[in-house]
Amino acid sequence: MAIIEAKKLTKIFGSDPKRTAALLDKGWSKEKIFAETKHTVGVNQADFTIEPGQIFVIMGLSGSGKSTLVRLLNRLIEPTSGQLLFNGTDVLKMSPEQLRQYRRKHIGMVFQKFALFPHRTVVQNIEYGLEIQGIDKKKRREMAMESLELVGLKGWENSYPDQLSGGMQQRVGLARGLANDPEILLMDEAFSALDPLIRKDMQDELIELQLKMKKTIVFITHDLDEALRIGDQIALMKDGSIVQIGTPEEILMQPANKYVERFVEDVDLSKVLTASHVMKKAATITPEKGPRVSLQFMREQGVSSLYVVDKRMQLLGIITAEDAVRSIKEGLPFESIIQTDVPTAAPDTVLNDLFEMMGQIRLPVAVIGENNRLKGVVVKGAVLAALSGNTLEEGGHAI
Ligand SMILES: Nc1ncnc2c1ncn2[C@@H]1O[C@H](COP(=O)(O)OP(=O)(O)O)[C@@H](O)[C@H]1O
Ligand SMILES: [Mg+2]
Repeated sequence: MAIIEAKKLTKIFGSDPKRTAALLDKGWSKEKIFAETKHTVGVNQADFTIEPGQIFVIMGLSGSGKSTLVRLLNRLIEPTSGQLLFNGTDVLKMSPEQLRQYRRKHIGMVFQKFALFPHRTVVQNIEYGLEIQGIDKKKRREMAMESLELVGLKGWENSYPDQLSGGMQQRVGLARGLANDPEILLMDEAFSALDPLIRKDMQDELIELQLKMKKTIVFITHDLDEALRIGDQIALMKDGSIVQIGTPEEILMQPANKYVERFVEDVDLSKVLTASHVMKKAATITPEKGPRVSLQFMREQGVSSLYVVDKRMQLLGIITAEDAVRSIKEGLPFESIIQTDVPTAAPDTVLNDLFEMMGQIRLPVAVIGENNRLKGVVVKGAVLAALSGNTLEEGGHAI
């Protein structure tokens, strides 16, 4: 089940928002509504679902409605209309007490301006939220220390914020957001004020943290590269509306309209798309099948070689049609014709690096995941097609 589900979620700022919201149904734009009514459309009928464990990125230019949208999720801003479900529960129908519990137990928040208290130590800053929840001193210190360790600040607990670099201050902010062990972490431009290199480190760490802790993260950014790097899903906003939701690949390769197209046109695809984006299903065989069945598989699938894998898809090597024929003629054991020197790459290898590799080896590249498992194969044509911005065909075998 989705952890968050929003239906036509809308926020209008002004004196009579409900009446103004009706104009959205008539298709009035943000601009027209402002011109005619002096009301500002913050979020316009946003429909989306967030699955547990996703990094859901909300991206858009300044003023597009990102902060308003994220604040609707914990009702720091009250929606004008629409629906919002958290694990199937209607957030907009919660009593004040339920809402308080929802915010305290299930949601953490990290802001761009770290908003640290200068006269509190690092650990005191992290436990602040727990303190106002009335969690006793010993317990909250325990929780804060755990959170502090998670973000790599062990040893800094008794320092003061001004003794820390910007990147470390943001870690404190992150630790504070994680201190109550929330299911959802809302991050509003959390890394936007950081220097580029520190920012990249923080992005990597967030991805790692996410893999470890399986949190659902709603991450806001106005930076496309950041969105593409960390997003599982990206919602692109314009004038309060979500203009497209999709994976980074979908946003890049299948822009929904001219606006998205322009937004992504300067992206260097070779540095963003990875092997897992362009790989196809590999034609495989298990070793006990032998050379005759191998040849038959190759004929059926129109390929001239097969990857040899064990029952758990661990890559053993590759066999060619030529060698299979030779092994039948000369009565060689099948094992002896398996070539083990196969070019491989990890799923997150960027196309730039793949392309360089393929220039030298003139062979398809096997994509290998954890435990040496074969996940797919990348052929040169797919890399070229992706780099030239062509949509890739789905499915199909290739070697
Ligand atoms: N409290 C408010 N009162 C009136 N208008 C607001 C308020 N907060 C935001 N807005 C307007 O709502 C729109 C979306 O703002 P915001 O969500 O802050 O955008 P973003 O975070 O993408 O920069 C903007 O037009 C902004 O001026
Ligand atoms: Mg904002």
